[in-house]
Order: sequence, then structure tokens, then C-alpha cells
Amino acid sequence: MDNMAIVTEGLTKKFKDLVAVDHVDIEVKKGEIFGLLGPNGAGKTTLIRMLCTLTYPTEGSASVASYDIVKEAGKVREHIGLVSEKMIMYDRLTAFENLKLFGKLCNIPKGTLQKRIDELLKLVHMEKWAKSQIGTFSTGMKQRINVIRALLNVPEILFMDEPTLGLDPQSTSEIREFIRNLNVKDKATIILTTHQMIEADMLCDRVGIIDKGKIVALDTPRNLKRIVAGADMTSVDVDIPNLTNEMVTTLKSLSGVVSVVREHETHLLIRARGEDAFDMIIDSIRQNGGKIASIKSLEPSLEDVYLHITGKEMRADVKGKVKSFQGDGHGPMGGRRSRVR
Ligand SMILES: Nc1ncnc2c1ncn2[C@@H]1O[C@H](COP(=O)(O)OP(=O)(O)O)[C@@H](O)[C@H]1O
Ligand SMILES: [Mg+2]
Repeated sequence: MDNMAIVTEGLTKKFKDLVAVDHVDIEVKKGEIFGLLGPNGAGKTTLIRMLCTLTYPTEGSASVASYDIVKEAGKVREHIGLVSEKMIMYDRLTAFENLKLFGKLCNIPKGTLQKRIDELLKLVHMEKWAKSQIGTFSTGMKQRINVIRALLNVPEILFMDEPTLGLDPQSTSEIREFIRNLNVKDKATIILTTHQMIEADMLCDRVGIIDKGKIVALDTPRNLKRIVAGADMTSVDVDIPNLTNEMVTTLKSLSGVVSVVREHETHLLIRARGEDAFDMIIDSIRQNGGKIASIKSLEPSLEDVYLHITGKEMRADVKGKVKSFQGDGHGPMGGRRSRVR
């Protein structure tokens, strides 16, 4: 057990009849970046909150840094940092004052604290803003302060709950880079929750997929994608300038077609099973008078894994956030390489 940062056994949290976290058994190795991936309401935050001793489990147990989260909560807290979903900072205090306040709460000696704050501000390129009120910051700037706040006590284990949620692309990529550096240079174990597949794919050594409180799959992103490849699932990205609703309906009704998502006016993302899925899709579109401007089949993504395992689109659960996360998938850092045929 010595090489384990976190071990949970049947960890469960109920809110009345609702089972938010349902008998979760996970082991996170020291030095790992471990991702918890799932749509809104899957139970990610509740699981993190239990591990951070902010709420008690209803059932089951867990150890963090070898300490029991219930019986040794104080010890657990000494070894962890939490970047929570909701930023709790005082708008009228400066960045420096906010950090100092939280440092004091962690009992960090004054001299050490001052030095640590300066270091951390530099690390996220915020040293110029140390004396400015948090209230004047953009969301991206606030999140940088929120992130380094969790690092004041040099935690061995860092929990980050949706660390890039709502951030602009520039801040998102800087925070991701920062997470990677923390892991590589400082050997921190990082537990990260996200509903962005691309984030899990880019950053995590292993990913637990969580659906309705249950871990439904857990492996490296690469192995998870193999599950889909093995199941002979194809993702096809097709552009049809004269796309009609009828074409979409027909495609949806084809046996073998698992999902059809209309990404833009003329653009479809189709997931289908079977060897001849690709040809079948082309035939169907042509039979309906569709002109295909471009078509390519994509390598499996974690989205496909989620769909394959839970039988539902994750993006359907994150309406309104769809745009940003599609953009991500095709950006320069996108994990999906297309295989043009
Ligand atoms: N304090 C609470 N009281 C009642 N229900 C809650 C509470 N916190 C979370 N839930 C419910 O538990 C489920 C899991 O929520 P949460 O852990 O926040 O999911 P996620 O972080 O994956 O979006 C949701 O159905 C949510 O409504
Ligand atoms: Mg959450």
C-alpha cells in the first residue's frame, strides 16, 4: 500500500434517496495524474469532497496519504490541497492578501509563507498583480490565484475539481501546462475531475469514468480507447452542404448507427458499429440526395468510450458547453487525429 496515494473501498454517499457516489473502489498511485471523467451530476465533486474530508461518507472507507478520511481527517488535510469548483476568495482583498489569509489558516509560518506566495505568484505569471484586488480580475486570473492557493502548504496530493471550467482558451492551456509541470517537476499526485474528454486524454495517466455515482471504467486513456476499437466502433465526421433533417433521421434509423450529432448546420458526427459502417453511411447520405463535401473517420476518443460504455452521449448532458469542447477536440493540442480515407 506504500505506493498508493489514495485507496477507497466501497465509498458511498447518499443524499436521502439519491446515491451520489455509489460503492467506489479506486486506487490512485503516488505520482499519478488520475482523472475522474463524467457528465454534470455524475458524483465527481461529492467524491472529491469526501476524500478532502469536507463531507462524511455514508458507507465505505478511504485513505488519503495513508490516513483514514474519517478517523484521521486532520492528518489528511495536512497532506492535501484542493482547488475547488467554487472559488472562495475575497474580492476586496488583493491577491497577496487572499493568499496570506489562507496560508495563515494552514498554519504556515510567516517567513516561509511570504516566500512561498512570491514563488507561486511567479509560477502563474501573476507577480505583477499581487497588490491588485481580486475583484478586478478576469476569471482566468482568479483561477490562477485559486490554483496556487491550494499549493501554499506544498501538498503531496492535489485535488482539482474542474480546474479549467469556464476559462478562456489561453488560461485553459496555461493551467493544463501548470498541472503537468506540478506533476513532473514536483512529483505531486493529482486527482482531477473534468467533463472534458480532451482534458482527461491530454493530462491523465489513468482515467476513471464515472456515471451516476459508479465507476464504470478505469484504465489509461489508451487502453480505454482500445475497448472501443475492439468493439469495432467507427466515428465518422462528415460535411454535407445540402444536409436535411430527413438525411439525419434516416441515418439515425440505420441498424449499426449508435448516434448522430449535428454539430453545425452542415456537419454531422456519426458513431456506428460494424465493419461496413463507413460505406453504409455514405450510401445512405447519397440515396437521400446528399452531397458529401468531406468525410473522414476518426480514431476513437474518450467520448466514444463513454458512449460505448454508458450507451449515451456525454455531450448531451453538457448542453451549452458543447461548443468549447468541440473546439478543443480539433485544436492544435487535440488528442484526436483523424484518419482520412
Ligand atoms: N449537498 C447535496 N444535497 C443533495 N444532493 C446533492 C448535494 N450535493 C450533490 N448532490 C447531488 O448529487 C449528485 C452528484 O453531484 P456532484 O457530485 O456535484 O456531481 P458532479 O460534480 O459530477 O457534477 C447530483 O445529482 C447532485 O444534485
Ligand atoms: Mg462537480
